[in-house]
Amino acid sequence: MRKILIDCDPGHDDALAILCALANKEKLEILGITTVGGNQTLEKVTINAQHILAFAQAEVPLVKGQSQPLVKTFQPSDEAHGKSGMDGPYFENLVYPITGENAVLFMAEKIQASKEKVTLVALGPLTNIALLLKTFPEIHEKIEAISLMGGGIRNGNVTSLAEFNIYVDPEAAHIVYHSGLPIIMSGLDVTEQAEIKVDEIGLLRNKGKISHLAYELLSFYNKSGQQFGFVNSPIHDLCALAYLIKPEIFAGNYYFVDVNTSDGIGRGQTFADKRLVSSHKANVLVLENVERKHFVDLLMTALERLDREVI
Ligand code: BDR
Ligand code: CA
Repeated sequence: MRKILIDCDPGHDDALAILCALANKEKLEILGITTVGGNQTLEKVTINAQHILAFAQAEVPLVKGQSQPLVKTFQPSDEAHGKSGMDGPYFENLVYPITGENAVLFMAEKIQASKEKVTLVALGPLTNIALLLKTFPEIHEKIEAISLMGGGIRNGNVTSLAEFNIYVDPEAAHIVYHSGLPIIMSGLDVTEQAEIKVDEIGLLRNKGKISHLAYELLSFYNKSGQQFGFVNSPIHDLCALAYLIKPEIFAGNYYFVDVNTSDGIGRGQTFADKRLVSSHKANVLVLENVERKHFVDLLMTALERLDREVI
């Protein structure tokens, strides 16, 4: 059983990753979920997390984190995930408690209290995680790994070089990538292969309460993705979670990966040292391939499980 903390900014794909984690209780014990400003404001992404957790009848502590990146300020946009940050479904009168407002302290306490090592699953900008690592260096030895969605060693999405989560807070990402902790990077290299097709989204309709919620999430997300040229929908964040459940459907390589924190054209880029001989030691497992069908099956199975559990 792996103990995890999920740091996220829901976000359609964050929401699907949370649902998948909730459905895999025999493999993952969720110690808590923390939010960070990214896809939308901190207030909005926290409301979205409350909606998902309440809808799935979860009992996991939810804690608010940082609203702004470490150094620069950031203004969220409605472009990818809509005004709410998770447009599509309508949630009626759902209440879910917020356990606290200091995600960094919460994570540190959970890690300190845990007998076993804890894996961090990072699905948004790395602000909370960087603060955690800097403020509590003594907990490094209690962290098993950081499985993160962010970056890409081939291309970006916000700019041609930088991916959204890293672009929002490159200084935080720099701290995390240089932490010396084992990092599993689900960047665009792999997440753009982790697509769900339109006809597969259609199969979720009216299938069960949770599957239908996923249908509504993915229907909006698919339409919105079309403005960026996608026909099918890459479920980016689910990769970082799915790897912990079924690592065998992924393939990757170890590289030294660094983060560009300059103010130039490359700000937010994650770049890999692919030289045959390099003075740098590899610091990241970069996932580069996923078996798409198995990935979609993993999601479908998780949703079906929750359909049976949630009344
Ligand atoms: C990442 O950015 C967000 O829009 C998604 O939730 C994902 O974490 C993809 O670039
Ligand atoms: Ca996200």
